Amino acid sequence: MAEVNLLARLPKTKRNIQKRYEAQTPENIAISRQYGEAYFDGPREVGYGGYRYDGRWIPIAEDMVRHFKLKPGDRVLDVGCAKGFLVKDLMTVCPGLEAFGLDISEYALMHCEPEVVGRLHLGSADKLPFPDKSFNAVISINTIHNFERADAVRAVREVERLAPGHGFIQVDSYRTPEQRELFLTWVLTAKFHDYPEGWIKLFTEAGYTGDWYWTILE
Ligand SMILES: C[S@@+](CC[C@H](N)C(=O)[O-])C[C@H]1O[C@@H](n2cnc3c(N)ncnc32)[C@H](O)[C@@H]1O
Repeated sequence: MAEVNLLARLPKTKRNIQKRYEAQTPENIAISRQYGEAYFDGPREVGYGGYRYDGRWIPIAEDMVRHFKLKPGDRVLDVGCAKGFLVKDLMTVCPGLEAFGLDISEYALMHCEPEVVGRLHLGSADKLPFPDKSFNAVISINTIHNFERADAVRAVREVERLAPGHGFIQVDSYRTPEQRELFLTWVLTAKFHDYPEGWIKLFTEAGYTGDWYWTILE
């Protein structure tokens, strides 16, 4: 178990915090939590404001392959894969790697990258439809915080079940009260979030032995 920043080479996105704060209405939160067209490709107030492939995950895919020592023929699963950008890039940087994804959004899967058609499963992170130890690595980025705490524990257990000791989970967090305040003015979908200590307690409760990192607004 280790804290490791596998997204260090992801470009930082510009965020208009004030605009999002003003848009943080119960209606917008409900729309974003449907993970439909509005969330991915609608206005920034309810989600990404356009979720398009631009190759930014390639360096992250390289770092994941290196970190998990993945090789052709190995199997990797991205839980909360959205349109499959990372799944595609994992296979680009490591030809022969068997990469798959799972997401709750039918919209995202229906608008996935052509290279990953047939590799993405519709489902929920707290009930992964795969056998025990069936992957060499399981990755889940910015997804597990979308559950209430008890369900987040189940989702972390699922990552561990599929790839014991070979998970990577990144979730929303904050290291200071100021960062927490900033996060609260931005958050739309996350139902459970905490300081790193709180998350590590949750990971331990779930019996998780993989790695992790935090998404922190600054
Ligand atoms: C912030 S996006 C992250 C997408 C991608 N991992 C990335 O980092 O660009 C959160 C993703 O989690 C998915 N999601 C939300 N709840 C989920 C659940 N219960 N099971 C699986 N995926 C879920 C959403 O549809 C969305 O694609």
